[in-house]
Amino acid sequence: MTTLLHIDASVRAAFNPNPSHNSISKNIAKRFIETLKQQQVIDEYIYRDVGMNPPAFINQDWIGAVFSPEEKRTTAQKEILALSDQLIAEVAAADLIVIASPMYNYGMPAQLKAWFDQIIRINKTFDFDLARGDFPLQPLLSGKRLVIITSSGEFGFDTDGIRANQSHLVPHLRTLSKYLGIEHIDEIASEYQEFADTRHQKSLDNAFNQAETLATELALFQQRNSALHVEYE
Ligand SMILES: Cc1cc2nc3c(=O)[nH]c(=O)nc-3n(C[C@H](O)[C@H](O)[C@H](O)COP(=O)(O)O)c2cc1C
Repeated sequence: MTTLLHIDASVRAAFNPNPSHNSISKNIAKRFIETLKQQQVIDEYIYRDVGMNPPAFINQDWIGAVFSPEEKRTTAQKEILALSDQLIAEVAAADLIVIASPMYNYGMPAQLKAWFDQIIRINKTFDFDLARGDFPLQPLLSGKRLVIITSSGEFGFDTDGIRANQSHLVPHLRTLSKYLGIEHIDEIASEYQEFADTRHQKSLDNAFNQAETLATELALFQQRNSALHVEYE
């Protein structure tokens, strides 16, 4: 049983009248998910395009509602938290999460950050206890896998790359992922989009190949796991 939650964050559509405007991250994610679907490992598929349909930004009323005890929340406060409740339920249901994101201004799009702000919520996805000393926050979800798919115009954002110190997209996603219950992360990156040269084509081809390979590996892993479950039942 695999429930897949797929989050796209580009403000660009996957397909446009001018194909050079097509979102790269969305198309790599599409290849990954289509390959998984061909292997019939997805039982439930949940999709959100937060780039084109962004969640609301949190505000002071949202914080007020979150910190009100559940049984004392007013109808208005429950309404404020309805979207957050829904987005958290989608994360909680998922075994595998795919986040496909462009790099905007060296980090994630504001739309994707808005999604995280709705989800990382006290007593829902983490709890807080000063008895834990310097690390009072503890995630409440666990056991999930994350695939991060990114596209950038420049290049060299790896830890040993020439722009490692400007890399705030994947490091931020990795930091936040533990509040989604992530225990294993795979990464696929396409770079050089702004150079529009052979390095970009090579990087793109590589990312599409990686998407297919990873989906095939995940399907095999899942099939082996479910075979083991049947054997031991
Ligand atoms: C508003 C905006 C900001 C961007 N900022 C960066 C950046 O800081 N670094 C970078 O390498 N590329 C940057 N880019 C280029 C995008 O990361 C690149 O076009 C990528 O392919 C976009 O993802 P998409 O193809 O999925 O839409 C930016 C593009 C836009 C539109």
